[in-house]
Amino acid sequence: MSAEAVTLNSGTSSCKIHLFGATVISWVCKGKERLFLSTDAIMDGSKAIRGGIPIVFPNFGPWECGPQHGIARISWWKVVEQHVQLDNGDTQVVLELTDDEKSRKIWNYSFKLQYTVTLSSSTLTSSLHITNTSTTSFDFTTLLHTYIRVDDIKDTTVSGLKGCAYKDKVTTSDGIEQDSEVKISMNVDRVYMDTNHHVVTHVGGRIQVEKEGLPDTVLWNPWVEKSQAMSDFNNDGWLNMVCVEPGFVGKRKVLGVGEVFGCKQTLTVLE
Ligand code: BG6
Repeated sequence: MSAEAVTLNSGTSSCKIHLFGATVISWVCKGKERLFLSTDAIMDGSKAIRGGIPIVFPNFGPWECGPQHGIARISWWKVVEQHVQLDNGDTQVVLELTDDEKSRKIWNYSFKLQYTVTLSSSTLTSSLHITNTSTTSFDFTTLLHTYIRVDDIKDTTVSGLKGCAYKDKVTTSDGIEQDSEVKISMNVDRVYMDTNHHVVTHVGGRIQVEKEGLPDTVLWNPWVEKSQAMSDFNNDGWLNMVCVEPGFVGKRKVLGVGEVFGCKQTLTVLE
């Protein structure tokens, strides 16, 4: 383990969590890397890490208070429990982020985020608990910005969206998803509401994305030009990724004093 990352191992699976943003940057399962990490990702803490599973809190998207997607993904987290070997052989790490002077200058509330990453032979579970430690209530949106690695986006489908209302951020239109297996063949940036669990199917395998407490899902692939316009996104990276991002983003969640909000994503390699 380097000072900046924690590695978990379970059987032949492993995952690595960077303390900047508590970003899971690698998940190797059944002999293959399952998460996309840009080869141009910046890992020195000067910018959110481009890939893996960044945590979005307390705001999804552009934000009048400060940086897009909020504070959590651009803060250094600390490990509070490490490499706990559970009875069933799974391994786990618990990371924590609390408000500080810098965060309060952006968003003047006190909070505690606890993020538990659990690795088993075929699953990676990310569980987030948000506690309001302020003296007033606050509201937020949150999301796990999961970059799934695929062999070829042109041969990839995402299920669990049929019949769901979406807001399309590229065309600025609304719609209802018609397809049970959504294919991506251009820049896609959609916020789907009240979604089901997902399965991402590509030539190299199938990954299930299950969620709890996260009713919505953002589907994102920047395609050619937008990838090239991002300095930390390798130019051909769009070919090998799809972001399937379980979130609470359709409306803002209000959290009273002392209240706790919990949510969870479980990724499973099906084959
Ligand atoms: C997605 C948003 O969640 O994240 C997109 O819907 C955004 O609009 C994308 O472009 C990447 O955001 P960022 O800040 O990491 O470049």
